[in-house]
Amino acid sequence: MRIERMTIKNFRVFRDVTIERIPPLAFFVGANGSGKSTFFDVFGFLRDALQHNVSVAVSRRGGMKELRSREQDGGDIFLEIKFREEAEGPLVTYQISVAEQEGRVSVAHEALKYRRGQYGQPWNFLNFQHGEGYAVTNEAEYGVPEAEMNREFQKLDSPDILAIKGLGQFERFKVVSAFRRLIERWHLSDFHIHAARPSQEDGYAEHLSPQGDNLPLVARFLYERHPEVFRRILERMKQRIPGVERVEAANTVDGRLVLRFQDGAFRDPFLSRHVSDGTIKMFAYLVLLHDPLPHPLLCVEEPENQLYPMLMRELAEEFRDYARRGGQVMISTHSPELLDAAKVEEVFGFEKKEGFTKVFRVKDNAQVRSLLAEGDTLGALWGQGLLWRSA
Ligand SMILES: Nc1ncnc2c1ncn2[C@@H]1O[C@H](COP(=O)(O)OP(=O)(O)O)[C@@H](O)[C@H]1O
Ligand SMILES: [Mg+2]
Repeated sequence: MRIERMTIKNFRVFRDVTIERIPPLAFFVGANGSGKSTFFDVFGFLRDALQHNVSVAVSRRGGMKELRSREQDGGDIFLEIKFREEAEGPLVTYQISVAEQEGRVSVAHEALKYRRGQYGQPWNFLNFQHGEGYAVTNEAEYGVPEAEMNREFQKLDSPDILAIKGLGQFERFKVVSAFRRLIERWHLSDFHIHAARPSQEDGYAEHLSPQGDNLPLVARFLYERHPEVFRRILERMKQRIPGVERVEAANTVDGRLVLRFQDGAFRDPFLSRHVSDGTIKMFAYLVLLHDPLPHPLLCVEEPENQLYPMLMRELAEEFRDYARRGGQVMISTHSPELLDAAKVEEVFGFEKKEGFTKVFRVKDNAQVRSLLAEGDTLGALWGQGLLWRSA
């Protein structure tokens, strides 16, 4: 599953922006306030809309007035995501427009389409307006002949529900369930070191939480249920953090769970609260990136914070491996060292001008291309502010 292109209109700082040719691993650079976190929140918005409805997704973000781009005469919010479920599969387009009428938020339009065969017209498999529309109900695979497709008119319970949520038969519709899974299992990593450090109420967790506060629980889960994964994580820890021999999740007498880090030089392990920020953060990233069930899309906020700059190259390789195993990765960063480990076609610049942001591929900037050809590095060009300046 891979998103290749996105268009965002009237969503905060993005009045009208298209991001094209998004690779499996992408790095986003730009000044503070240029919209990197807002871009990630497009997925948060869609997930809230899918889990609840668009009214909830809008009100969690301060209402239409806050969410719409400022001073743009109140148009609809428009989001378009183009993705492929498999590398050779068709390019699928999902579109949604969100409007407000007389104080009520609704889905003005929602569509899902793709081309059948190489030359055909894009075909609407789902097309809804304000809670009414049609869906093809027997497209279990991509290949049902056109004459045999059933278009069924439907009315949703409410105009603020997404059709991809509201229609039970889509459980069988491969492309819709793939898209739903992408949104439902999208993960934002915004790791807060203070949250991961203290001990944790004993309990159970299979996946790392966005802020990393259940790290001891996930470590124990991996240790007990996926020992080979845990062993791999420890090997990487040993390579990357000098002195770390072993990490374990241990119970305290008062029924809590703590992480203990064993340094080869000492007999007794250190409790996580006495270990460096970087050690814990590297361990947390390894736990996140070696999750036996990877997220289809992983967004990471500034992974460089608290980490030793020399670790950035290895961290970039960990992200690239994750992307290779099928999970797409998008990273916001201010780290020249991390960018030095990126490929130029993986880097996107966020440039804010007169209140609104444009996003472009750094590779399309001729000046950057020629400076790189002369031996400059992406990190050095980032330092000169050249990566978020359109050509
Ligand atoms: N409705 C809106 N219209 C225009 N700009 C907005 C709107 N809501 C928020 N913003 C702006 O969007 C920016 C948000 O940036 P953010 O995504 O946090 O950037 P970054 O993560 O790159 O630092 C801020 O500069 C804020 O002023
Ligand atoms: Mg941010």
